[in-house]
Amino acid sequence: MKKTVLITGGAGFIGSNFTGYLFKKYPDYRIIVLDCLTYAGGIDNFDPEMLRNKERFELVYGNICNNDLVDELVSNADIVVHFAAETHVTRSIYDNLIFFQTDTLGTQSVANAVSKHKKRIEKFIHISTSEVYGTANSDTMKEDEHPLLPMSPYAAAKAGADRLVYSYWATYDIPVVIVRPFNNYGSRQHLEKVIPRFITNCLLNEPITVHGDGSAQRDWVNVEDTCQAIDKIMSGDIEKLKGQVINIGTGKSISIKTIAEIIVEKMERPKSLITYTDDRPGQVFRHTADIEKARKLLGWQPKISFESGLEKTIDWYRNNQEWWETRLWMRKIPIINKDGKKIIH
Ligand SMILES: NC(=O)c1ccc[n+]([C@@H]2O[C@H](COP(=O)([O-])OP(=O)(O)OC[C@H]3O[C@@H](n4cnc5c(N)ncnc54)[C@H](O)[C@@H]3O)[C@@H](O)[C@H]2O)c1
Repeated sequence: MKKTVLITGGAGFIGSNFTGYLFKKYPDYRIIVLDCLTYAGGIDNFDPEMLRNKERFELVYGNICNNDLVDELVSNADIVVHFAAETHVTRSIYDNLIFFQTDTLGTQSVANAVSKHKKRIEKFIHISTSEVYGTANSDTMKEDEHPLLPMSPYAAAKAGADRLVYSYWATYDIPVVIVRPFNNYGSRQHLEKVIPRFITNCLLNEPITVHGDGSAQRDWVNVEDTCQAIDKIMSGDIEKLKGQVINIGTGKSISIKTIAEIIVEKMERPKSLITYTDDRPGQVFRHTADIEKARKLLGWQPKISFESGLEKTIDWYRNNQEWWETRLWMRKIPIINKDGKKIIH
């Protein structure tokens, strides 16, 4: 049956990978992307074939905080996948208002529309983040056991959104599934994020700057695995999934220092390119997913090893210089902290 899928933030990194994935896999789906194209979103994130196919794909330029627009789009959708957010932790430390406006209040706008049209909406997939947990207080983090201890304004704004949609399920019985992806990497990720920053530093023969001593660990999941997990939710039984929170990760973590060393080695650059700077405030030190729930509820587990995913990502940046060169300006505009210090981002 033909379905209409509304994807907010579909012009960003994960959203555009997911949009492309759906477009290829489901020829009978109509895909509508709502995106206000901040510096993080781009029309060049869509395959031109998709942009030409007006029957199956539409890009609506607009803001998720625009309640009327969101209401109209949601009223015509069968499934809503909500990615739109401000996502850069470092920027949220120095200028956080827009994070609460977009990530929390923007989510309220989408959730209100879903609640109003809940008879029509089959599923509302809310993309939260593992950042809501803060630093792990156990080896791996379980959705229903680990406390929410957000360490940055970004994480707090997302935690607000995460609990907001949960409360809408408890109060209004909306068909929401809350996804907490761990650190994603892959093609078309903005240069402000660590893996693309390190890769493009190597391509430009620039120093690679690591915050603190680089021992902070993250669970790195390939964006293609994340797309498959969301697809499994789309096709899953809503009666089993409604109100659930599901981690998407690998169950393993790797330190930032190790990532820098692997990238330098794979790209045949000297180790001396790696330099260290002050630690970022609000840093999360250890972060590993427990993925048992995703295995049990969705029959999902990651398929892409970090080694092969990273090689593919390096190749993508090697072959798409035009894409990332247009985003290099971001590094030229420094974030200045209250002591007048330039922040690496
Ligand atoms: N990238 C990760 O590692 C990661 C990990 C966990 C969770 N997440 C979550 O996944 C989602 C997508 O992350 P990403 O890395 O693709 O982000 P991104 O920054 O690459 O993309 C965000 C997209 O949202 C759009 N957007 C921002 N504000 C908007 C607004 N007010 N109205 C409409 N569109 C707006 C931007 O234009 C952009 O296209 C976010 O909700 C993020 O919190 C990301």
